[in-house]
Amino acid sequence: MIIDLFLVTLLSLSAVHLSLGEDCETITLTEPTGTLSSPNYPNNYPPKVDCTVNIVLPNPNAIILVEFEDFYLEKPDDGICFDKLEITDNMFSENNTVPYCGVLDDFIYTSQSNNISLTLHTDSHVEQKGYSATYRSEAPPVFENCPEDITLNGTSFNTTVLWIPPTAIAYISGDDVNVTSSHTPGDSFPLGNTTVVYSATVADGSTAKCTFVVSVQGNEVEVTSTPKISDTGQSRSGQGGLPWYYVFYAVVGMVLLISAAALAIFFSCGRKEKQSEKIKLVKKYKSRDIDEDIGKSEIPNPP
Ligand SMILES: *[C@@H]1O[C@H](CO)[C@@H](O)[C@H](O)[C@H]1NC(C)=O
Ligand SMILES: *[C@@H]1O[C@H](CO)[C@@H](O)[C@H](O)[C@H]1NC(C)=O
Ligand SMILES: *[C@@H]1O[C@H](CO)[C@@H](O)[C@H](O)[C@H]1NC(C)=O
Ligand SMILES: *[C@@H]1O[C@H](CO)[C@@H](O)[C@H](O)[C@H]1NC(C)=O
Ligand SMILES: *[C@@H]1O[C@H](CO)[C@@H](O)[C@H](O)[C@H]1NC(C)=O
Ligand SMILES: *[C@@H]1O[C@H](CO)[C@@H](O)[C@H](O)[C@H]1NC(C)=O
Repeated sequence: MIIDLFLVTLLSLSAVHLSLGEDCETITLTEPTGTLSSPNYPNNYPPKVDCTVNIVLPNPNAIILVEFEDFYLEKPDDGICFDKLEITDNMFSENNTVPYCGVLDDFIYTSQSNNISLTLHTDSHVEQKGYSATYRSEAPPVFENCPEDITLNGTSFNTTVLWIPPTAIAYISGDDVNVTSSHTPGDSFPLGNTTVVYSATVADGSTAKCTFVVSVQGNEVEVTSTPKISDTGQSRSGQGGLPWYYVFYAVVGMVLLISAAALAIFFSCGRKEKQSEKIKLVKKYKSRDIDEDIGKSEIPNPP
């Protein structure tokens, strides 16, 4: 009878514990920052519970840092934790659950993924204050509207290429993002392929890159590409006709040719005239010589 009573008491006690355990709902946090604590904190946690807090962030590139302001669990005995907080990195299947117990100071847990679980297991005796923590997350910024590769017909001169620069968004809104780039729209590109790189850095040092290739093709004089400025980019010379400098050089060349021809004609005429004058002079001289000769011969010697 006494034993029966004792058993009933035990059963009812465990029933109480079970109901406490059932009250300990699983919580899932999805914000980039937040707070979490053990049940009843700062009062003692209940015995015989398994209380889980999941932190699952939407950004798959994010990691989670949990900073414990207070950590006070039953001390381990011979290295074994009876009450313990097990932290599991859910995206790593092996050796990913680490139990923590006792008193920890300045304890910061850093995950390797965006998905972790913290489960408080307590046994039937020795309850303590438990834990209280804040968490934050880190992730590289994200580039939006990274341009597609740009292909256009160029010339042997460098070709001016335009595009809409991508936008870098910090994972935590409001965070500063520093963006650097290897080229800017309006730069000249040589024939062939050139890779354009944009880099974005946030305060925690995480970086993101956006790259695309500018491919300037061929020696073709005729430039027919008219890419849309809205999505790809545009060559300034790509308006369908000949680029202005071709027309310019052609006109300059023609003017030079005509002048050269005119000069050639002018000089050659001048030379002819001089030649004919020379001939006339020669003729004159010759005729004078003859005249003189004649004159000489005709003038009779004075007696
Ligand atoms: C997070 O991990 C849990 C447990 O492994 C899994 O069931 C869940 O699908 C994961 N969630 C995401 C968003 O990865
Ligand atoms: C699991 O991790 C702990 C602590 O980092 C290490 O001591 C232990 O050797 C690991 N176990 C295995 C099976 O990798
Ligand atoms: C063409 O571009 C290359 C690389 O940007 C530069 O080194 C070169 O001086 C440019 N040539 C002309 C004629 O602009
Ligand atoms: C240049 O880029 C174009 C397209 O982006 C590619 O088809 C071509 O093979 C590249 N040429 C070289 C020499 O890398
Ligand atoms: C951005 O660059 C400026 C100047 O180089 C620097 O002072 C600032 O700390 C940088 N910010 C980030 C988020 O990297
Ligand atoms: C370059 O020019 C050739 C011939 O004129 C044409 O077939 C080709 O589509 C052009 N390429 C681009 C990217 O405009």
